[in-house]
Amino acid sequence: MVDEPSGEPTLPYACPWGTGEPSQFSELRSGTGIDKLPTSTGDSAWLVTNYDGVRAMCNDLRVGKSHVDPPHAPRLWDAALMEPQSGHADEFTDHTRWRHALSRPFSSRRLSQLRPRLEILLQDIVTDRLADGPPVDVCAGIAQPFAATVICDLLGIPQELRPALVQWSDAARTYGMTEAATARRDVLLREIDAVLKKIRDQPDGPLRDSGLLSDFALTPPDSVQLQDDKLARAILDIFLAGYDTVATRMSYGTAFLLDHPEQLAELRDDPSLLDGAVEEIFRLAVPGGGYICRYAHSDMPLPDAPIKAGDLIVLSFQSANRDEQVFIDATRFDVRRRPNPHIAFGHGTFYCLGAALARLELSVYLAGLSRFPALRRAHPTYEHDLAHDKVTGGLRQLLIAWDTPSA
Ligand code: HEM
Repeated sequence: MVDEPSGEPTLPYACPWGTGEPSQFSELRSGTGIDKLPTSTGDSAWLVTNYDGVRAMCNDLRVGKSHVDPPHAPRLWDAALMEPQSGHADEFTDHTRWRHALSRPFSSRRLSQLRPRLEILLQDIVTDRLADGPPVDVCAGIAQPFAATVICDLLGIPQELRPALVQWSDAARTYGMTEAATARRDVLLREIDAVLKKIRDQPDGPLRDSGLLSDFALTPPDSVQLQDDKLARAILDIFLAGYDTVATRMSYGTAFLLDHPEQLAELRDDPSLLDGAVEEIFRLAVPGGGYICRYAHSDMPLPDAPIKAGDLIVLSFQSANRDEQVFIDATRFDVRRRPNPHIAFGHGTFYCLGAALARLELSVYLAGLSRFPALRRAHPTYEHDLAHDKVTGGLRQLLIAWDTPSA
């Protein structure tokens, strides 16, 4: 979050800890729900804050992720994440092809078979941390290694490339690191390309059956085949979309439950509450503000917003998921909330490809967490640990402790 020299807050607004939201959101929602506001880069954007407005915009084929002139497109922030895309003329055709090529490996049915493997992975990580003794940092000690390993295994990323992917993902989400992140991405694209070639050169080599990369290298999807440059790009995009998002929900979810010990106890006693807890974490754990950028592809003369072609439109999923018109007592964390029609995974054309995977990861994690009876947080507040240098926010650390039996 960067403020203008005048001190006027600009988008993205500073996001407080927890289930709250930037102070501006509730006022904006109670107005038209779509407002033209200055951004941290000196541009302006249409910010959409209410639930119906965000959903409608997600379904509107006049808005996409590309811009006719990406280098000069208005921006929300100086960070590589959600840069305006090129390929304006063919965006939706290319996107349909891309979705088609990737949707099968990410289907709920295929992913549900992964549960036992994820349970073992979590168990191994937690066992190591328990051996370290309290306090344990949930972020660096459990959530990040778990989320990174799950997505890298699924994609088939060789071990030696994994640390570089994590570093690039951090850089892409950090203010002021746009160029550095882009340079790192270009190196990674070349390295992924080299892996694809290696798999093809040695179809029976050690990378065979390693994951999506080898599946795609050896047996391209029947009807739709992504070119190698698009494939390497897709692999990186999926890592970026599926690593930190999950890790931050794991740490926020832990904090919410530790701050609501009665709900954690209910979860322990009644595993049927698990799915509801996962959904409530997705609704409320939106570090950073849950901003998603879009560009108008044509003029859109809406009653409250004379949007012009090329304008930046910013959707806040955090605000939409706290809309009191839809969610009663919206900032209250409640694992029993029914119904819970949150749109944490988006809606419509760009609906999250990894929603089923994210649900599985959180479900495995919460089931594991709820089995530990004596957990507590090891620091009194979270405010000092918020990652304000990241456009996606999140906690820098979350220390937890437990009572060890006295000798
Ligand atoms: C809790 C974790 C996650 C949250 C909250 C989340 C949220 C979202 C949201 C809101 C969108 C829509 C973006 C838009 O409208 O432009 C999206 C898209 C996407 N997500 Fe996720 N996501 C999560 C986890 C994952 C995982 C684990 C993956 C890994 C496969 C993933 C892959 C994607 C991809 C590839 C897209 C783009 C889809 C498209 O363009 O059609 N996400 N996600």
